[in-house]
Amino acid sequence: MPLYARITGTGGHLPARRLTNDEMAALLAQRGLQTSDAWIVERTGIRARHFAADGEMASDLALQASLKALAAAGRQPHEVDLIVLATSTPDMVFPSTATILQRKLHEAALAAGGQGPIGAAALDVQAVCTGFIYALTVADALIRTGGARRALVVGAEVFSRILNFDDRTTCVLFGDGAGAVVLEAVEHDGAGPGVLATDIHADGRHTGILCVPGTVAGGQVLGEPLLRMDGQAVFKLAVGVLEETARAALAKAGKAEADVDWLIPHQANIRIMYSTARKLKLPLERVVVTVDQHGNTSAASIPLALDHAVRAGWIQPGQLLLLEGVGGGFTWGSALVRY
Ligand code: UT7
Repeated sequence: MPLYARITGTGGHLPARRLTNDEMAALLAQRGLQTSDAWIVERTGIRARHFAADGEMASDLALQASLKALAAAGRQPHEVDLIVLATSTPDMVFPSTATILQRKLHEAALAAGGQGPIGAAALDVQAVCTGFIYALTVADALIRTGGARRALVVGAEVFSRILNFDDRTTCVLFGDGAGAVVLEAVEHDGAGPGVLATDIHADGRHTGILCVPGTVAGGQVLGEPLLRMDGQAVFKLAVGVLEETARAALAKAGKAEADVDWLIPHQANIRIMYSTARKLKLPLERVVVTVDQHGNTSAASIPLALDHAVRAGWIQPGQLLLLEGVGGGFTWGSALVRY
């Protein structure tokens, strides 16, 4: 019987510091910029976001989310043989944040009298806000072809580090956080739980509409390592490709729009999320929304939303989940998952 990659546990973590829109407005006012809770809520649906403390890295947030996902799956860190971590805000240029997470999982396991996932393969995936969909696709492919049995798939970001607080059109949109899932190989005839289909794409002609145009060379930062976005260009591309990729994933799995129990979109803007739901004729109550409390956490947003919906008891075993995202690159993709 064919192998499937089943989600057996989810976890999420947000840093302690929470900023409401009013607090963001006060922060921007100190720089002579004007914004308001009303503008941010009306244009995006965002009401608050979390920012990491000084020195708190993507791997720290990833560790907390991963430990929760492992606990939910009833697994120990040493049982994982693959770590795929999506981030655009890595701890270092190299090694990968996935290997740093591996070390931190090992240290946490040792402190608890166990062992870490030393020896597991560990890699980062860079697809900005589509990162989790890409990471899930990589892990699913390895599991279905026998290259891994049990994977930790993580999205972790500290976007607060790359925000330009002199640009009110972008800095109010993003937040920090991490989400994780444990994926395990299961055998069945296709009617059981697991990732049923994935669909990923990129169009490198649009690298400039959402980017951090900086790099390091000769011990110096070259260019400007702060986020730039042409919001309207991203918006227009996003609404088109999200519908396309959702339909593509459904077609690959032989499912119809009406079969979807929950839409779990990348949490960037409530208007984009609801627009996709309407195009797919899904009732808005079936859209998992966390953007109001998290802001846009890039690669972390989908697993954070998934974890929220699982822990709230909304998602039930056997239900069909449609995960989808868009982001810098330009990248986009979706995954259809039987929970
Ligand atoms: O995660 C990757 C995916 N990213 C996204 O999905 C983002 C996609 N884009 C968007 O979500 C929206 O384009 C934004 C939320 C970024 C902006 O919303 P919009 O409805 O496209 O607004 P806009 O850019 O057309 O700006 C409208 C007005 C402008 O003023 P004028 O020119 O009409 O006088 C802006 O200067 O709002 C002004 N504005 C603000 N006002 C108060 C822009 N930012 C702010 C702000 N506070 N923070």
